[in-house]
Amino acid sequence: MKRQSIVAANWKMNGGFALVEEMSERLAHISLQESVNVVVCPSFPFLSALSHSFIQHELADTFAIGAQNVNEFDSGAYTGEVSADMLKACNVQYVILGHSERRSIYKETSTQVAHKVKQALENGLTPILCIGESEAERMAEQTETVLAAQLQPVIDEVGISAFANIVIAYEPVWAIGTGKTASPAMAQETHQFIRTFLAELDANIAQKTPVLYGGSVNAKNCEELFAQADIDGGLIGGASLKADEFTVICSAAKGTN
Ligand code: PGA
Repeated sequence: MKRQSIVAANWKMNGGFALVEEMSERLAHISLQESVNVVVCPSFPFLSALSHSFIQHELADTFAIGAQNVNEFDSGAYTGEVSADMLKACNVQYVILGHSERRSIYKETSTQVAHKVKQALENGLTPILCIGESEAERMAEQTETVLAAQLQPVIDEVGISAFANIVIAYEPVWAIGTGKTASPAMAQETHQFIRTFLAELDANIAQKTPVLYGGSVNAKNCEELFAQADIDGGLIGGASLKADEFTVICSAAKGTN
C-alpha cells in the first residue's frame, strides 16, 4: 500500500516577504523522493506572495501552499476571520486545523475543529488535522483516550470515508517548540494506535491516510522519525523558519510507505 509523504512548514506567527523569497529559492534546488509533497504554511498576509513567488520560480506545480486556520462559516459578519473561499483565491490547497496552540490559547474545541474540517473539505481544501496529548495526559497514560476524543468529533462530522482527503498530524504538546522530541519508537507506537483507531472503521482508508509527526523535528532527528513504518512525514515549526534546514528535512522524507 502506497501512502503519500508530506512535509509541511508551519511558520506560525513568524516569517514574512524575505522568508517567502528565500524559501522559494531553496525549494527550486531541492531533490525529493518520489511522492513527497511539500507544503508551506505562512501567515495569511503572505499567502498571495508565496503563490506569486512559486509561480515566478516555476514551483507552483511541485509545491503546495497551506494556511494555518480557516473559519467554519462561508462569509459574513465575522471580523478578523478568513473563509475557505478566500484561501482558495490565494491558491491555498491545505489548511492546518486543530493545532494545539489554537486549542489551548484560543479555546477551539474538538467540535469547532470538526466544523472547520467539514468547511475545508467542502471547499476543496485538504485539512492537516492536528491532534496530541499534553505531558500530564501522557504521564497519566491517557494518550490514546485523548487522541480518540479529538478524532471522534471529526469522524462524526464528516464520516470516515472523508479521511481519504484528510492528513493527520500527531503532535505531542510537550514536544512542540520545546526541543523534546518523542523517541522514534514512542512516536511510531502512537501513530500505529491512530491508524488502528481509523482501521476499526475502515481498514482501507486507514492505510491511505497520511499521519505526520510534529514536535521539535529538525535536520538531525528527521531521518530516524521518518524511517518509522507509520510516520508519513512531518509538520515542522521552528526548523521550517530556516530555509536550509527545512529543505534538508524535506529531502529526508521517504516518499512511499
Ligand atoms: P516545532 O512546532 O517544530 O517548533 O516543535 C511544530 C508545530 O507546532 O507544528
